[in-house]
Amino acid sequence: MTKKTTPPTARPPRRPKKRPDPKAIGLAAKAPASGQGDPMQTIGAQRQLTTQLKTARKRTNSSARWLNRQLNDPFVAEAKRQGYRSRAAFKLVGLDDRFGFLKPGARVLDLGCAPGGWLQVAAQRTGADQTDAKAERGRVLGIDLQEVEPVPGALIWQGDMRDEATQAWVVEQAGGKLDAVISDMAASSTGHGPTDHLRVMMLIDIAFDVAEQLLAPGGTFVAKVLQGGAQKQTLDRLKQAFTKVQTVKPEASRSDSREQFIVAQGFRGT
Ligand SMILES: C[S@@+](CC[C@H](N)C(=O)[O-])C[C@H]1O[C@@H](n2cnc3c(N)ncnc32)[C@H](O)[C@@H]1O
Repeated sequence: MTKKTTPPTARPPRRPKKRPDPKAIGLAAKAPASGQGDPMQTIGAQRQLTTQLKTARKRTNSSARWLNRQLNDPFVAEAKRQGYRSRAAFKLVGLDDRFGFLKPGARVLDLGCAPGGWLQVAAQRTGADQTDAKAERGRVLGIDLQEVEPVPGALIWQGDMRDEATQAWVVEQAGGKLDAVISDMAASSTGHGPTDHLRVMMLIDIAFDVAEQLLAPGGTFVAKVLQGGAQKQTLDRLKQAFTKVQTVKPEASRSDSREQFIVAQGFRGT
């Protein structure tokens, strides 16, 4: 497998067509507790099927369903409008609006970062992208099995998080303790719920091993989970290492999926 380090200035980054609107993605203001005026809920409220595929007859059922969903998903449209590489970016926006772990100057490791939506959000919010020269500058590292186009302000390594070489790169590039380890890692779906659940739980274990080594006391760990029986064991383990552990479903997470996110705050230290 090709291993690649992408320094922030290696080649001109692919810029969003339009600068993200800070208000719309919650950069300027935290979401109010009531949800009233919450940009995430405003986008989510547009979830109505409005566009029907004209070519549906030529497609298989599942591909037509997928395309219909993409065409009518307000988060897909908003990600495109704001130059985010994935609708998943809004899941991180929603989580950070609620839990506030991407502070200016924060040092963040993003596991399973392709195609780069979370990296874009993390680099903007921590100041790693240096859009605001006066703001504190964060540090953002990203890992994925797949190649990722450069993201301004992020250092990216292509590799498997289970590999020693990948872990050595992370330790070297982190250069010290991190404020947050965030993982959206997921293997491609087998279509069998219990199997997918167990595969994600294994990835969480890997992410947590890294977090235990690298998080600073007080740090935050975020990980994608697919609901299932093995979740409790992982939550119990996390509760010993963090002062507060919650499982949440951000507005941008599809309501028909078993996806949730574990947010563990207040790392007790090693
Ligand atoms: C849902 S995608 C991440 C989307 C990303 N957060 C974004 O906003 O663009 C999940 C990613 O996890 C990656 N992944 C799965 N297992 C991995 C592993 N063992 N090491 C590194 N990356 C992994 C996959 O390659 C995939 O790109």
